[in-house]
Amino acid sequence: MMTTAIYDDRRGRLETYFNKTAVDAWAQLTSNSPVSKIRETVRQGRDQMRGLLMSWLPREMSQAVLLDAGCGTGALSVAAARRGATVVAVDIAANLVDLARERAPVDLSPGVVDFRVGDMLSAEHGEFTHVAAMDSLIHYPADEILRVLGALAGRTSGSIVFTFAPSTPLLEVALVMGRLFPRSDRSPAIEPVTEALLRKSIAARPEFAGWRVGRTAKVSRGFYTSQAMELIRS
Ligand SMILES: C[S@@+](CC[C@H](N)C(=O)[O-])C[C@H]1O[C@@H](n2cnc3c(N)ncnc32)[C@H](O)[C@@H]1O
Repeated sequence: MMTTAIYDDRRGRLETYFNKTAVDAWAQLTSNSPVSKIRETVRQGRDQMRGLLMSWLPREMSQAVLLDAGCGTGALSVAAARRGATVVAVDIAANLVDLARERAPVDLSPGVVDFRVGDMLSAEHGEFTHVAAMDSLIHYPADEILRVLGALAGRTSGSIVFTFAPSTPLLEVALVMGRLFPRSDRSPAIEPVTEALLRKSIAARPEFAGWRVGRTAKVSRGFYTSQAMELIRS
């Protein structure tokens, strides 16, 4: 798939952010070490979200190949490998992929999780039974999210589970204020999307012919809010 200028721009900014600016904070957030109360809510929300996405994937995955698109430090990849899946774990931030490799439990068979530095959309990653994209599309505008999902749908035989930032009035206010007070270490903006827009676009776009929206659920814990959606081959 051809990428767009917006996609390339966002991916570049996310690489800088996750590979340099926020790498230590992200390493800590995704570890077991103590964090601030605010970050603890984010950690709990993220754990809940990972559990939710995993609950939508089969219990037994020994015949499955899963793409963990934007794998970060690799927790979901490891959870899928524990169910027997072969995992292609891709992230644009090389330092996070290094951390994911270091953290991978020693009792996992070598090669079961193939950690790769790169773009989740690269055709070289092959074809998949399932794709998981946990909070890795939340910084892309709706149109880009749909392009990414559409491209991955063409290479996926089973299901795609992903998250988006649900659009709520309060979040819109926070984002406007955030833009009024820019800070150099601020994370790239989160792009809120409505469930209705995703549903409408998925029903209408030809890339999703043969796919339907399955379950959807929101996770809200303190400073963490994210909504999961499942796409299934119908
Ligand atoms: C909020 S983190 C979530 C990481 C992981 N999925 C988790 O839940 O722990 C988003 C991740 O997506 C990665 N990412 C964003 N766009 C990407 C792209 N186009 N290709 C590969 N990785 C990407 C970022 O580098 C970052 O590590």
